[in-house]
Order: sequence, then structure tokens, then C-alpha cells
Amino acid sequence: MGPGGDDEPGLLLCGVAPPRRWCAPRWSLRRYTSVMTSVAAPPPMRTQSKRDLLELSGLSGGEIREYLDMARGFVPIANRPDAGRSDLRGRVVANLFFEDSTRTRLSFTLAAHRLGATTVDLAGPGSSASKGESLSDTARVVEAMGVDAIVVRAKSAGAARIIAGAVGCPVVNAGDGRHEHPTQGLLDCLTFAEAMGRLESFDLSGLTLGIVGDIVSSRVARSAIAGMTALGARVVCVGPPTMAPGGLSAIAPGVSVTHDFDAVLPGLDGVMMLRIQFERHGEGPASGAAAGGGGSGLTGSLREFRAFYALTEARAAVLRPGAVIMHPGPVNRGLELDPGAADASASLILRQVSRGVAVRMAVLARLLGQGA
Ligand code: CP
Repeated sequence: MGPGGDDEPGLLLCGVAPPRRWCAPRWSLRRYTSVMTSVAAPPPMRTQSKRDLLELSGLSGGEIREYLDMARGFVPIANRPDAGRSDLRGRVVANLFFEDSTRTRLSFTLAAHRLGATTVDLAGPGSSASKGESLSDTARVVEAMGVDAIVVRAKSAGAARIIAGAVGCPVVNAGDGRHEHPTQGLLDCLTFAEAMGRLESFDLSGLTLGIVGDIVSSRVARSAIAGMTALGARVVCVGPPTMAPGGLSAIAPGVSVTHDFDAVLPGLDGVMMLRIQFERHGEGPASGAAAGGGGSGLTGSLREFRAFYALTEARAAVLRPGAVIMHPGPVNRGLELDPGAADASASLILRQVSRGVAVRMAVLARLLGQGA
């Protein structure tokens, strides 16, 4: 796989405190930017008429609103198995998940079923990918069986685009490495807009969202930044320099970077906490690390991360009235987010999950429905 794939070394934590004691990332911003640029602008490989959703970067506010308008309409029926919709009756959606997932995989399945489609599922382990078959060949094989759309999650940035170039049916990126997770970005925009009373217009101007933690490893952050800023919000990236390098401010208009969470916290309308993406650092999560216990060379760093960047109950109490707490999941309680904050009345974490079904209904309906 190309840049951003599994062969790429990840950012390393090295046990020192921010701002000066956090070490420089091996995954430099220049390299990261060049990777993301190459992922964002590959040579055209697909037919003019085919519709995919591979990323939010590059979509206009109007295009994002079209998805959100449809999703808003699906909210009342998204969690009702008796919805009785037949928009996609006779269509087949293939879920190709080469990386673990709970929320995205199940919600795409539910979304397809709510619209009358059937689904087939393929996971990496147990598929012929484990025998060396390429992603492109696997996707072509699946398409040859008569599926109408492919939803793909993969470890490598750019994997969804490669598949989109290999098949004729619509492809939806369900998360590819550090690149993007566009349906997560849409559901985050929908949830935030709803909580802020902007559900009619999806105009987020005047609002500021803090995205906190391991931003450089996060496809969720990339899609949220693209979506929120396209709708007019300001985004403050918060984290140690290794995870929130200053150059992130160049990603989109309205993005800034700080390493001082406590300084910006009272001014935020929402805070989106991110899980530390250990699996992308070339190291596994430590046993007992969340509690600050032993078992890993990262433990010292994790204590420091918590001290500066966790949303503790004390920090949650500093949020302004009406400000909301978001997290894409999975949550590592006691590490980036304390249980008291995760379960606070300001927390939208489960609403995000719920809105994910409506958003995925909208995406499937838009890519596969009448006139698509
Ligand atoms: N937010 C998200 O992508 O969660 P899953 O990995 O459980 O799908």
C-alpha cells in the first residue's frame, strides 16, 4: 500500500510533557501533509457517472448540507425497525471491513435494512484477502456477484479510493487509515448542529468546536474539520505538539491549534475528545495504562497526557452552559475522557451513534436511490 499504509512508521510518544517535553513526531507534518495531499488528489480512475463518498475534504458546504438535509429527514425512523421504507428494495450493499468496527459496521447494516436493501458482509480475517488477494481484486469479486454498493473500512489511507477506481458501483469510505471517515464527519456535523439549534440551516458560523487529543492519527478529526469548517464553524485543534502540530491550522480556513486545553476550554461550544490511536503508533495499548498502571513504556506519557489533555469532570465543569461533549468512540474511559464527563448531561456520545444510522441511510439513499 502507498503512503499512509501499514508500512508507514507512526507518531511516537516518548514519555515527556508538553509543550517542550513532548518529543517531535517521527511522522513529521511535512511528510503527513504530503501524504494527505497525495491521498486527496490521485489520478482519476473512475467513470464520470459513478457516485462515491470517499472524503469530506473538497466538498462544499452546499454538498454537505444535501447529505445532512436527507439525514435529518431520516432521524425519526432511523431507529425503528418497522419503518417500512422500500427506497432500496432489491438492492444489495456489501460491507467490506478489513479493520475492526462496532458503530460503523452495524449502522451501515441497519441503515441499508431500514431502506429495504439487503446486505452481505466480509471481514478481513476469514476472507481470501488473508491469502494475498488484493483489495481491488476482492472488490471486483464482490461486485461480480451483483452488489449495488460497497462500504469499505481498511487500515491503509487511500484504500477506499483504490477500490472506487476498481469497481463500477458506488463506494463509501467507512474509514481508511489516517485519511478520512466521511460518514462519521457527517454524523458529527448533524449531532452538533442539532444540539446548537442549527438543524434547519446547518449554518455553524459563530460556533467553535475543540477537537482534542491524537489529531494527527485521526481520520475522524480530518473529516470533522472538513465538515465543520465547510459549514462555517471554527475548529481549535488541541493536543501536545506530537499530536496537534501547528501546521494543522493550514488544513482549512477557520482552523487553529493550541497546546493549552485549559486556556481555550471555557470558550468552546463543543469539545470532541479523541481516543489515542495506539494501533497507528506502532505500539499496542498498555495493559493497565488507562489507570496509569504499569506494563508499558507509554505509561509515563499517558499520565502526562491525562494531566494536560483529558476531559476530566473538573474540566467538564468549566465548559460554558450549553456546550456539548462529543466522542466518536470507542471511548477509553479514564484515559482521554472520565466516566463522569462521558455520562454527563452535556454528553452527546450516544446521540452521535444514533444519528449515525440516519446519516448512513442518507448516504446510501443518495448514492443508490432514484436518480443516482
Ligand atoms: N467511530 C467509529 O468509527 O467507531 P467504530 O470503529 O466502532 O466503527
